[in-house]
Amino acid sequence: MSEATLGRRYRLEAAIGRGGMATVWRATDLKLDRPVAIKRLHQARVDDAEFTARFRREAQLVGGLSHPNVVRLLDGGEDEEGPYLVLELVEGETLKDRVAREGALPPAETARLVAQVADALAYAHDEGIVHRDVKSQNVLIARDGIARLTDFGIARMADVDTQAGLTAADVMLGSADYLAPEQAQGGKIDGRTDVYSLGVVLYECATGQLPFTGDGFVAVAMQHVSRDVPDPRLVNPDCPAFLAACVQRACAKEPRERFVSTRQMAAALREQGGNTAQMPVIASGSDGGTTSEVRRRGGLGRPIAIAVAVALAVAAAGGIGVYAYDQLGSGSGSGGEEAVSAPLALAGISDFDPEGEGRERPADVPNAADGDPESVWYTERYATADFGNLKDGVGLLLSAADGAEIDELVLDSPTPGASFQVLGQAGASGVRPVLANGTTSGGEQTIPLEGASLGDEVVLWFTGLTQDDSGRFWAGVGQVELRGTSNSTE
Ligand SMILES: Nc1ncnc2c1ncn2[C@@H]1O[C@H](COP(=O)(O)OP(=O)(O)O)[C@@H](O)[C@H]1O
Ligand SMILES: [Mg+2]
Repeated sequence: MSEATLGRRYRLEAAIGRGGMATVWRATDLKLDRPVAIKRLHQARVDDAEFTARFRREAQLVGGLSHPNVVRLLDGGEDEEGPYLVLELVEGETLKDRVAREGALPPAETARLVAQVADALAYAHDEGIVHRDVKSQNVLIARDGIARLTDFGIARMADVDTQAGLTAADVMLGSADYLAPEQAQGGKIDGRTDVYSLGVVLYECATGQLPFTGDGFVAVAMQHVSRDVPDPRLVNPDCPAFLAACVQRACAKEPRERFVSTRQMAAALREQGGNTAQMPVIASGSDGGTTSEVRRRGGLGRPIAIAVAVALAVAAAGGIGVYAYDQLGSGSGSGGEEAVSAPLALAGISDFDPEGEGRERPADVPNAADGDPESVWYTERYATADFGNLKDGVGLLLSAADGAEIDELVLDSPTPGASFQVLGQAGASGVRPVLANGTTSGGEQTIPLEGASLGDEVVLWFTGLTQDDSGRFWAGVGQVELRGTSNSTE
């Protein structure tokens, strides 16, 4: 077979890789005189109609993809030995081999490589494709150091096949090592399934080993269903806190507690990937639960890593309450997306008091975003409506999940008559533009936002307070929500 020429064009040279379904050969494209990779079904699989159908589907799916971090499909064909794929040859090694060779990778390298795979997945998700078999064997690292995702062998179009769990063949093919709980349980699969598996890859790079091992598929799958992925710092004390927080968020059992998209995960990895030396390492011994503490970097008056914040997290020591959550546990399957204003997932919400002592009742911030208008975040109580002339205002800083476009703010305030502004993201001048002015109605109100520099962050900024029966001045937020269009993969 090694001397074979496929389709009178591709000369097979040497087998360079093997997975559950196929063998991959290094070959030369005689027509264009360049090296390529040929992927062929294992002989034993060729007679199986399901496998050949699967293989053809992979060709269809990947054929439409073009991204710097996705292995490109160049051609495909079929001969008496069955179908084959011609792929861009990636000379280098798999991420699995790299970790086997080096053990835990340096944090910056881990963040860089995993963010590249996250980019590849974000792109595939935008195309409506869920990979479903994200693992380090399917990540190739070229000599240029760039990670490329391959093997869309069990990928599915999200909207065609929404609730497909594992078929028997998928189980045979897939390893359980990276299996998301909903995959193991035959639940609904969407982009967040890939987020989970990529979280396991992140764990593997950060520690040099897998989170769960056991005897056989079921033993490992069970652990993904019922046990929290441990804190990687228990294995590798040099793993920085932000990578541990990313693992925990990506590997939350509940899909809605994970990063809403691999795009958001990539942003979280990049936000701090260059800064690993300064990251505080939180003492190990955590129970590996689905919440993790969000820390502030000393001196910065902003919560760091809003995107890394996991579920309910109040940084008591840092003094800033950060509450990150996904308002939308929404599923896929809606097909063609239109740009309709809808509630946006919040990546974070925190108190905002830049002209005062830097905090404004942080512990109560979650009340403003818990879906319940009855639980309220209040400002502190002041002597006059204008903050006793101490400052211009106080408020809440909200950030939308990565890639969202905000166009409305919905406010439910129990304190009527307070004046407020909605401010956008600071431009180069450092000044936050005013996107809207308003007065609280005492109930729910929708505030359209307009402005040149709408980023993914706004401040609800109270500039005049309401007097209560005892003569003190304050304002409250029972609920605040951002609306707009989300670009994240749902
Ligand atoms: N384009 C490629 N360039 C170089 N090596 C590859 C390429 N594609 C796959 N391989 C190697 O072959 C192995 C199996 O390929 P893969 O597509 O994952 O098949 P399977 O569906 O059987 O898992 C990979 O883990 C990798 O080692
Ligand atoms: Mg594979």
